Amino acid sequence: MHASSPILLFDSGVGGLTVLGELRTLLPEAPVIYAADMAGLPYGAKSEAEIAARVCGLLGRMAERYHPRLICIACNTASTIALAMVRDVLELPIVGTVPAIKPAAALTETGVFGLLGTEATMRQPYVDELQKEFAVGKRLLRHGANGLVELAEAKLRGETVTADDVAQEVKGLFLQHHGNEIDTVVLACTHFPLLEPELREAFGPDISFVHGSKGIAQRIATLTKGQTFNRDAPDFAVTTGPLDDFERLKAAFDLYAISDLRVF
Ligand code: DGL
Repeated sequence: MHASSPILLFDSGVGGLTVLGELRTLLPEAPVIYAADMAGLPYGAKSEAEIAARVCGLLGRMAERYHPRLICIACNTASTIALAMVRDVLELPIVGTVPAIKPAAALTETGVFGLLGTEATMRQPYVDELQKEFAVGKRLLRHGANGLVELAEAKLRGETVTADDVAQEVKGLFLQHHGNEIDTVVLACTHFPLLEPELREAFGPDISFVHGSKGIAQRIATLTKGQTFNRDAPDFAVTTGPLDDFERLKAAFDLYAISDLRVF
């Protein structure tokens, strides 16, 4: 394993930056390539077949081009649909991102908790299995909030996003039967923690928001334990879309020490 061999973080857009933030804290020396499938964004409104084909195809080509030591699919939608397939075709460690149902089920005091993700994630059998395994005796209310992905992307482009905008997208969760008993909400889309301040402003201090970014970064640290890292070459980010569009996110990437933006 070469010390400059990167960790590849993959998402449809900027959501994976929530995982990168935690990774920087845990493994500050780890070289990273951030890959955004901007040409495929948003995944949440696509079919399973389309997402699986895109993710497997792109990650195969990226693995050949960049020789990463590990790939993290920093996207719940892609992970809940395509993680097993990607693991079948690529011979390197693949870390996925799955909804943090287990810790949220342990945290809820009312026994009623919410799951916010993309519409595609909400209907996955993978999520049904997590619910069956970890939320026995609790009530889990799901809500597909594709609009939050767009708002997170807009926020990181420097556009104004208000707590009201966010509340509009999420209110359907709380309007469901028993929705007024929710005390804990799983942010099951890597874009959503980027809107945590607006979510807190909209829903107040009585709701806890739970997401998996820290756990994912810890998993990456465990799988790369004992390996050496060298970040002498600056990290970069690639997009499958047009560069001028990607460059509108420059200030956001700068915050994560990535200033070189390229086209894949
Ligand atoms: N960030 C992705 C996730 O975690 C979804 C964004 C999209 O809809 O493309 O689910």
